[in-house]
Amino acid sequence: MLLSGQVALVTGAGRGIGRAIALALAEAGARVAINYNTSAQAALELAAEIAAAGGEARAWQADVSETDQAAALVDNVLQHFGRLDILVNNAGITRDNLLLRMGEEDWDRVLAVNLKGYFNCCKAAIRPMTRARRGRIINIASVVGLRGNAGQVNYAAAKAGVIGLTKSLAREVGSRNITVNAIAPGFIETDMTRALTRDIREQMLKNIPLGRLGEPADVAGLAVFLAGPGAAYITGQVIAVDGGMAM
Ligand SMILES: NC(=O)c1ccc[n+]([C@@H]2O[C@H](COP(=O)([O-])OP(=O)(O)OC[C@H]3O[C@@H](n4cnc5c(N)ncnc54)[C@H](OP(=O)(O)O)[C@@H]3O)[C@@H](O)[C@H]2O)c1
Repeated sequence: MLLSGQVALVTGAGRGIGRAIALALAEAGARVAINYNTSAQAALELAAEIAAAGGEARAWQADVSETDQAAALVDNVLQHFGRLDILVNNAGITRDNLLLRMGEEDWDRVLAVNLKGYFNCCKAAIRPMTRARRGRIINIASVVGLRGNAGQVNYAAAKAGVIGLTKSLAREVGSRNITVNAIAPGFIETDMTRALTRDIREQMLKNIPLGRLGEPADVAGLAVFLAGPGAAYITGQVIAVDGGMAM
């Protein structure tokens, strides 16, 4: 199997895109650390599902926006599995509003989870990866970080920040055989997008050449590729999975 013997940590893996990525990495042979914040039941069920299919997985609670919790999460993974080969930063939230109406708390929380959370996990993972002289970091950004979106100045700023973090870290750690790439999903069917009104969904669909919304599995396929041997010479890239929406 493509990733057998390797250990992957996926943040925010109890639901949505993170869940699909954790499942796909396990199917490719990786042992998977499932991080969750509030969805304990879903995370435990996912670990059980992976085990039932013959894989290995374990779930850990951590709020990745808290530096100490992110560090403890990576420590737990290293203690339990003995190594960390793949980090997928996926945990994210939205708190949408027009800038004029956006409260400071909504700005701060979105930046804390969607940007500082990625920094925290990268920082905790980079030392063991450097020691092992191998590693793959995959950051889930968004096409909104490339193009902007009315009503999402906080989210777009965080996702644009993730892209800057990805390219800068790729330059810092390339010599250690660690690649750092970003995936920029478009409009993917998860709890995050189910909250949008019918009007907005129909408007979005008009701008998607492939004529459908994405599924979490569409994003997971690219994550497995970026974690695998076929992507050994790819770093610092931002790859959209958006049905052609942002081109
Ligand atoms: N859906 C889309 O169309 C779309 C498009 C572009 C980018 N993205 C990005 O893709 C990623 C996943 O989004 P999704 O659509 O799957 O969203 P989702 O269904 O709302 O799931 C969000 C996930 O993030 C986790 N999370 C939130 N805050 C956390 C924290 N402080 N610490 C740890 N985990 C935390 C949640 O964990 P708990 O449930 O355990 O709290 C949950 O597993 C996000 O980075 C999002 O910005 C999504």
